[in-house]
Amino acid sequence: MSTFRFRLDPGVPPVNVEEWRQAARRKLPGLAWGYIDGGADDLVTKQACEAGFRRWRLRQRALTGVIAPDLTAKIGNTEISLPVALCPVGATGLAHWTGEPAAARAAESCGTRLMLSTAASYRAEEVADATQENHFFQLYPVGRRERIAALLDRVKAAGYAALFVTIDVQTVGNREDEKRWQFTLPWTVTPSRALHMARHWRWVYEALRHRRLASAHHADEAKLRAQEAEGTASTGKLTAALAEAEASQKYMARVLIQSDMTWEDLAWIRDHWQGPLYVKGILDADDAARAVDQIGCQGVVVSNHGGRQLDRSPASIEALPAIAERIGDRGEVFLDGGVRRGSDVITALALGAKAVFIGRPYLYGLAVNGEQGVRDVIELFRSEIARDLILMGCPASRALDRDWLIPAP
Ligand SMILES: Cc1cc2nc3c(=O)[nH]c(=O)nc-3n(C[C@H](O)[C@H](O)[C@H](O)COP(=O)(O)O)c2cc1C
Repeated sequence: MSTFRFRLDPGVPPVNVEEWRQAARRKLPGLAWGYIDGGADDLVTKQACEAGFRRWRLRQRALTGVIAPDLTAKIGNTEISLPVALCPVGATGLAHWTGEPAAARAAESCGTRLMLSTAASYRAEEVADATQENHFFQLYPVGRRERIAALLDRVKAAGYAALFVTIDVQTVGNREDEKRWQFTLPWTVTPSRALHMARHWRWVYEALRHRRLASAHHADEAKLRAQEAEGTASTGKLTAALAEAEASQKYMARVLIQSDMTWEDLAWIRDHWQGPLYVKGILDADDAARAVDQIGCQGVVVSNHGGRQLDRSPASIEALPAIAERIGDRGEVFLDGGVRRGSDVITALALGAKAVFIGRPYLYGLAVNGEQGVRDVIELFRSEIARDLILMGCPASRALDRDWLIPAP
């Protein structure tokens, strides 16, 4: 048996999320990278989300014999094989043209699910058709109520298992990386930018060829509005792809702003959706209690949108304990924001989350290697969680509670 294997490419696959991040950074043009990896203002909340987990140490019990910990978890009525699912992300086509269908397929092949964004590059039906399992849908309650009701009917007919209403985009956060790249369409082309894009010619070619740069639902809405007004949907003169993206973005800028959404609107959504309903973007225990006890939501996602909205809002892991304590067994509490290691997942579960969602980590995988990249990132989390639980001597992720944590000195 030979001790050596010869490979033309000496590259080692990424061994952790940070290495996936670096690989994605090399692959993507600055414009897409700024959108995916950026955050609001000075990135205080974005960075605090990641750093917050490290304020906790994991308790290590001796000689427990644990070697195959149970990682199963549940979101609503859906059993998942590890306590990690995929966050909703708008326009994942910017990471890789295969976008949400690829992410959803990767998720289900790993025994978990994707929460599909209203701002996704693919329509709810397209993702449902491309997958075997029922995934979750994230709603931006955009536009008139009859349009929201129509979208909810489509989502229900397509078989989505749960609805998550995102409430933290009253207006779009100040993402300076996006501004630097003049993310707003139509793009301004300068010689240095043209050169930069030429260096990423494959991404540009695929993005323009497959036309998945924008939010499909919003592009549809923009077209519908234009038809209603008997106008035309696009004003762009570049390519059909850019024109569509531009119409979608203009529509979002006009209508996505939901600054006037109130608890009354959430109650209205509760009446129109019979399945499990959650609110995403909760950071306050009073709000969590109101959503569960008064509106009748099944639970909440403790989230600050990955530090992309209100900078200096609390890190999710800081906000979690009070919310989990307040909700108790009356609802399900989930968390997203800054989860980069299996030990982060373990910390969140020990502080009261039933499962966590990851956002940017799977986008890195998608950008680097499409569906397989997402699968690799999910499996990385599974192996890290399992290994840590074995080393802690904890038999199941469901068994985690506050006793398994020690505050760092
Ligand atoms: C590029 C990008 C786009 C996002 N788009 C949406 C969206 O359309 N709807 C939504 O509810 N959250 C959206 N989010 C927020 C994520 O769902 C999630 O809250 C956040 O990414 C979690 O933090 P993490 O990236 O550190 O895991 C987006 C996040 C990113 C990074």
